[in-house]
Amino acid sequence: GPPYRVTVVGSGNWGSVAAKLIASNTVKLPVFHDEVRMWVFEETLPNGEKLSKAINQTNENVKYLSGIKLGKNVIADPDLENAVKEANMLVFVTPHQFVAGICKRLVGKIKPNTEAISLIKGMEVKTEGPCMISKLITDMLGINCCVLMGANIANEIAVEKFSEATIGYRQDKEVAQRWAQLFCTPYFLVSAVQDVEGVELCGTLKNVVAIAAGLVDGMDMGNNTKAAVMRIGLREMRALSKLLFSSVKDSTFFESCGVADLITTCLGGRNRRVAEAFARNGGKRSFDDLEAELLQGQKLQGVSTAKEVYEILSHRGWQSMFPLFTTVHEICIRQLPPSAIVEYKEQITNAT
Ligand code: NAD
Ligand code: 13P
Repeated sequence: GPPYRVTVVGSGNWGSVAAKLIASNTVKLPVFHDEVRMWVFEETLPNGEKLSKAINQTNENVKYLSGIKLGKNVIADPDLENAVKEANMLVFVTPHQFVAGICKRLVGKIKPNTEAISLIKGMEVKTEGPCMISKLITDMLGINCCVLMGANIANEIAVEKFSEATIGYRQDKEVAQRWAQLFCTPYFLVSAVQDVEGVELCGTLKNVVAIAAGLVDGMDMGNNTKAAVMRIGLREMRALSKLLFSSVKDSTFFESCGVADLITTCLGGRNRRVAEAFARNGGKRSFDDLEAELLQGQKLQGVSTAKEVYEILSHRGWQSMFPLFTTVHEICIRQLPPSAIVEYKEQITNAT
């Protein structure tokens, strides 16, 4: 039979679209088994039905991506161990806060020579310092892990509008090419760069800038202000990435995972949307509260990433070098008002 079998670990908004993209290729390409397993964090729908059962009956993720057929070869599976047991290509795509718990349950359950890819935008902060999610997967499961990031608002890709993405790989270009083959479609163009940390930090840190952009929107500050915040944010993204990993390449910031993802997320993302609502309420309602109301079970990554970045900055004494990142966190925890996003003590141009 075909040498490669794919399981998608996660089935949220982007996870479901990823499964659809992949399934459209596995039916066509002989190196892949047709069937794509998709692990579902089980929940009960308002009508009393289980989500995994509803997905298998309708071929739609009725909660996180309703109205979109995933492909008959996508099989939802609520049993994590069972979902991964035959696979040798694992696609991780859950909100970042759940990855450590998932990997813990997968220790010893994975086939030898399995390859992984992470579509997850986020990081963990340990006492030793930051740990990117791909590294967490590698460390916990002993498997190689590439990343795929880009300007990829899931709902737009679900209806097959053209976009691009970037794979970051560590060493093995052939493995990166196999992942590209699995994801590439005429409306989803994937390229690969040898800079895992750069790609993953772009995807992770832009969510903090998106919170800043949303605050600007919520205060009706206009396009120039928003562009200024995006520029300052992009500089801080690059500066922090390079301080954390000297191997990070400048050119990565010009790939889809860099400036393009920053733009789309600041224009149309969920982080932007919830931050706009936060500022419109004058910071009176918490992000958690607004997230639950506006996103209906989908998860923000920017608020927790801002906290994680803040921990790194304060631990290393770098706060003054990163005024935007620092300020976003202080606004999120309601230590500063939303208007602080455009109040800086020092000249920002040469700050980083
Ligand atoms: P989502 O925001 O839709 O999150 C909801 C998912 O989390 C659901 O599948 C839910 O079942 C699951 N979940 C809830 N509690 C859980 C728990 N305790 N354990 C495990 N799972 C639990 O998810 P998403 O949009 O697929 O995002 C996943 C990752 O992809 C994130 O890092 C995100 O930044 C990234 N991403 C998202 C988009 C997008 O447009 N949605 C685009 C690119 C990248
Ligand atoms: P949001 O989570 O802010 O919607 O961003 C989605 C994304 O990462 C687009 O590439």
